[in-house]
Amino acid sequence: MTTISNFFREQAAKLQPKLVEMRRELHLHPELSNEEHETTARIRAWLEELGIRLLELNLPTGVLAEVKGELPGPTIMLRADIDALPVQEETGLPFASTVPGKMHACGHDFHTASMIGAAALLKERAGELRGTVRILFQPAEELAVGARAVIAAGALEGVSAVFGMHNKPELPVGTVGIRTGPLMASVDRFEIEVQGKGGHAGMPESAVDPVVVSSAIVTALQTLVSRNASPHHSAVVSVCKLQAGSTWNVIPDTGVLEGTVRTFQPEARASIPGQMERVVEGVAAGYGARAKLKWTAMLPAVNNDANMAEIMRAAADAQGLQVAEAVPTMGGEDFALYQELVPGCFIWMGTGGTEQWHHPKFTLNEDALAISASLFAEAAVLALKEIG
Ligand code: NI
Repeated sequence: MTTISNFFREQAAKLQPKLVEMRRELHLHPELSNEEHETTARIRAWLEELGIRLLELNLPTGVLAEVKGELPGPTIMLRADIDALPVQEETGLPFASTVPGKMHACGHDFHTASMIGAAALLKERAGELRGTVRILFQPAEELAVGARAVIAAGALEGVSAVFGMHNKPELPVGTVGIRTGPLMASVDRFEIEVQGKGGHAGMPESAVDPVVVSSAIVTALQTLVSRNASPHHSAVVSVCKLQAGSTWNVIPDTGVLEGTVRTFQPEARASIPGQMERVVEGVAAGYGARAKLKWTAMLPAVNNDANMAEIMRAAADAQGLQVAEAVPTMGGEDFALYQELVPGCFIWMGTGGTEQWHHPKFTLNEDALAISASLFAEAAVLALKEIG
């Protein structure tokens, strides 16, 4: 008798042409965050065609489906994201985007097609499933608002564990990157308003120059990581916008700085806003100006549960894949919000491309579609067993 692992592998290989077709169809017609209407319709149609039950998600875009096992057990969730980016595609592929200025440049088309594959595989073995697998096709990941909307819509209710992935150009096809603990950074945003005093460029003594103050703040912020954060923590403070003045011979009144802070450790995430406020206000005061920090908390870090990571490792072994220790990145992912509620694991799926995410020439190796489908089907079966 063939094992379920072999069944998933063989069946995924048979599904592969269909998965490629779906992925290319999505790639031809990319839609931006919260505009994924056609994408949603396509996913629904494919799932219905495969006989997979659709649930009500109660959001304008996105799809929730489930494969219910015939044996009682817990509910777990597999998650894919579905949105594209405002990037003009330059791959020259025959199935390149047909929409000017929009492209699946982060491979969410790949995530979607392979999770449909996982659902199809699980559906075929529903008779042996101990519990329910919910499959979520999440909108608006790129804006970091989709997961929050999905949670508010109640899609996570009753879910005991969540699994997801991102394609990884650096890893070859057949290799997955898995790690316990933080994988992607928390993402927070800050805005600093500097209030100086405008005046004549030739008479700075009667002004308080916000250009000089803003520059000093940018420089001082560099010490937050080097002098305030623990050397055992990792953090990034990037000032990405700096605006002041409108011409060459007038000292402006105000300056504005904007940027982002990324870190893996909740302790660092909690302490940085206070330290930043002290530096910002102190530097400004030193120049006789005033500065105000506005902090917007956005996403926690993607933080993998040890048991869930173990399940993913076991699933990868059962599927004969190479497991590498995943290298963390300071990019963010709203998958982190699910992990605040239930234990989960987010992994890197090797797709062997030459360009990084969001690049106009971003490509991936479609051979990873079947691999990813069978891996997540396997992981779902293992997780139901483990948690139940
Ligand atoms: Ni992405």
